[in-house]
Amino acid sequence: MAVYCGRACRKYLLHLAHDNVDFRLPEIKALLSLRNRPFDTSETFSEKSPFWQLKGLSEDDIRSVMSRTVCGKSSFELWGHGTTTDELRTSLLEYPAENMAPYLQQNSTYKINVYTFNKTLVFKDRIKKIDALDFLPFKGTVNLKDPEHIFCLLEDYGSDPNDIPEEPFHIFFGRWIADGQRELIRSYSVKKRHFIGNTSMDAGLSFIMANHAKVKADDLVYDPFVGTGSLLVACSHFGAYVCGTDIDYNTIHGIGKASRKNQKWRGPDENIRANLRQYGTESLYVDVMVSDASKPLWRKTAQFDAIVTDPPYGIRESTRRTGSHKDIIKPPEDFSGESHVPVSMAYHLSDIFADLLNFAAHHLVLGGRLVYWLPIYRPEIQTDCRTLLTLASPHTRVTTLSERNTSVVSPRRTERTPKPP
Ligand SMILES: C[S@@+](CC[C@H](N)C(=O)[O-])C[C@H]1O[C@@H](n2cnc3c(N)ncnc32)[C@H](O)[C@@H]1O
Repeated sequence: MAVYCGRACRKYLLHLAHDNVDFRLPEIKALLSLRNRPFDTSETFSEKSPFWQLKGLSEDDIRSVMSRTVCGKSSFELWGHGTTTDELRTSLLEYPAENMAPYLQQNSTYKINVYTFNKTLVFKDRIKKIDALDFLPFKGTVNLKDPEHIFCLLEDYGSDPNDIPEEPFHIFFGRWIADGQRELIRSYSVKKRHFIGNTSMDAGLSFIMANHAKVKADDLVYDPFVGTGSLLVACSHFGAYVCGTDIDYNTIHGIGKASRKNQKWRGPDENIRANLRQYGTESLYVDVMVSDASKPLWRKTAQFDAIVTDPPYGIRESTRRTGSHKDIIKPPEDFSGESHVPVSMAYHLSDIFADLLNFAAHHLVLGGRLVYWLPIYRPEIQTDCRTLLTLASPHTRVTTLSERNTSVVSPRRTERTPKPP
């Protein structure tokens, strides 16, 4: 008698895009944790591989991850895998027949795709591989255009394009479940965006950041270095209310010089609100304001579900904050008002990040996440160009606010951290 094989023994295969490799694991883990699901994988798991096996999940969990992931290309219910075709065959024959049966019915239609990573197969070889699966009890009719069920044979030929093996290292076979959201990279491309600036964040990376931040419907998300609002666009796509601040008056008000080639000045409706309108999320636009991140204007009680931001690194835009030349302009003795003179002064990277972490420690809800770009120094990619250029290779950092780490960040200091030499 057949044994029922529920969630515990079903495995799923994720096929991941081979770009932004470092951001894939935190993205998938964050999306699973939105459903309180663990990231449980096989003993042979390799983070750099384009194929990940996941255990202990339901098909609904997988569909939910795929409805948001930008790093994941597609997902499958894994029916078998091996390092050789014989191993794959044995593994497929061991897969519970009752799990396969609903998809192999006589009155159903299906097709089988062959996907190879790091190798291109000619049509004849693909057909051979499909024919070799004839031991599986397919009873339905092949329909290449509009099948009810899609199956896929996936082969992994490693990641070295200069050393492609004759036979694959890993072979998988499974039933296709859902594709990820790679399409968002094209449909939200900044090339087609209404309002852009010199440092507008790439669409794919903006969605990855929103996923890392676990942004969900009805959250309130804040970007303290909002620029043209690319991160607000991505967060509102997932249903969050969004707001932001920036020191640049022209950017906030959508005026001044245009960043587009062949356009001198920004048009009358080039602003962040119009960007959200372009993607149908204007109702989630709270507002944006001119403000200096080093002097936050929020009440102590203001709380955000997530802070998602792309601070300036001083490469493509300057890192400035407001300051005052007290020695030059002295208020009269009897003057009781604010003597602040908003001239600009240097805002060092270490101060930007210390201020950001302090702000997040005070203004994130418990469990809320701060996701930001951190420029890192990578001497291995330094050629004869300036160190500054190597600073421009940023990494995202995810910081989750928990009761434990609220005290990690010291309260706002009046003295600034020492400047790097
Ligand atoms: C890397 S850009 C952000 C780009 C933005 N993510 C977008 O998609 O357009 C950094 C932004 O920080 C702003 N900025 C620089 N110094 C600031 C400060 N002290 N306070 C607030 N914003 C500041 C700049 O005007 C710039 O718009």
